[in-house]
Amino acid sequence: MSGWSDQKIDPVCGMDLAEFSDLITIIRKGKSVYFCSGGCGGRFKKNPEKFLGEPLIRLSAVWKVFNTGKAETMALQGLDLHVWEGDFVSIIGASGSGKSTALNMIGLLDRPTSGKIFFKGKDISLFSDEERAELRSSVFGFVFQQYNLIPWLTAYENVILPLVFAGTKIDESRLEANFREAGLKERMTHRPFELSGGEQQRTALLRALANDPKIILGDEPTGNLDSATGNKILEMLVNLNKIQKKTLIIITHDADIAGKADQVITLKDGRLVRNHQVHQKIYTE
Ligand SMILES: Nc1ncnc2c1ncn2[C@@H]1O[C@H](COP(=O)(O)OP(=O)(O)OP(=O)(O)O)[C@@H](O)[C@H]1O
Ligand SMILES: [Mg+2]
Repeated sequence: MSGWSDQKIDPVCGMDLAEFSDLITIIRKGKSVYFCSGGCGGRFKKNPEKFLGEPLIRLSAVWKVFNTGKAETMALQGLDLHVWEGDFVSIIGASGSGKSTALNMIGLLDRPTSGKIFFKGKDISLFSDEERAELRSSVFGFVFQQYNLIPWLTAYENVILPLVFAGTKIDESRLEANFREAGLKERMTHRPFELSGGEQQRTALLRALANDPKIILGDEPTGNLDSATGNKILEMLVNLNKIQKKTLIIITHDADIAGKADQVITLKDGRLVRNHQVHQKIYTE
């Protein structure tokens, strides 16, 4: 047992509240439950059962120190975070606050310098490289600001690439249906340079979805697009969360996107900011 629920930790966001005294408290079955803010307390009140088990992803005192030889950067400084299954989480914060580093930890693209990361209660900090790669490719789909499409492959070939690498059987009719739904049926044989920015990002999104991941991670996925095109991508992502019940974690600088999320996480100096749910206020400070 990890025992996080015995500590003074906000069950919703995972923030360690030991240093605070002015907390929102809900007494439940004779036991005090503490919250960093009304946002998290309000979510708990609506659905306490959801937040009393084990989070889908839990970061506990995660530090990441980059050492470039000349300088040491402490990108994450004891980050505690809970992500609950089925949530749409948006991560916001100033440039350099550790958002991408945190997402890379969640998606097993990087290892913490210290601290633990739990996936469904299992300590994946202890996993071997092979186990991490296996979990990463079966559970996560990634969408980045840069589309990272391979220029000499067609849209279709780009999308099936992760399946080819994983040796997974390719369900052509399902993939075709995905292309059709994304409005890309006529673009399947185009190479990236023959696609608009929005089409390239939709292709990258289809590639992220090729292995039917349960969790989708986006690092400013609409950052390179004009607002109308970006909104279309966002709508696809939100539908994956709302209709297909996929857990969605998106880094964004866009307050409108953050406003659509179930949970807003604001980072500052590699840690959670309290009252993160009041995102617009904090973000404009
Ligand atoms: N590979 C690396 N080597 C050295 N320093 C790094 C590395 N990656 C990130 N950093 C540093 O860690 C800090 C956090 O970086 P991170 O990319 O997580 O920020 P961010 O919140 O995503 O910022 P942005 O909004 O600009 O994308 C920054 O100071 C950055 O310079
Ligand atoms: Mg970033």
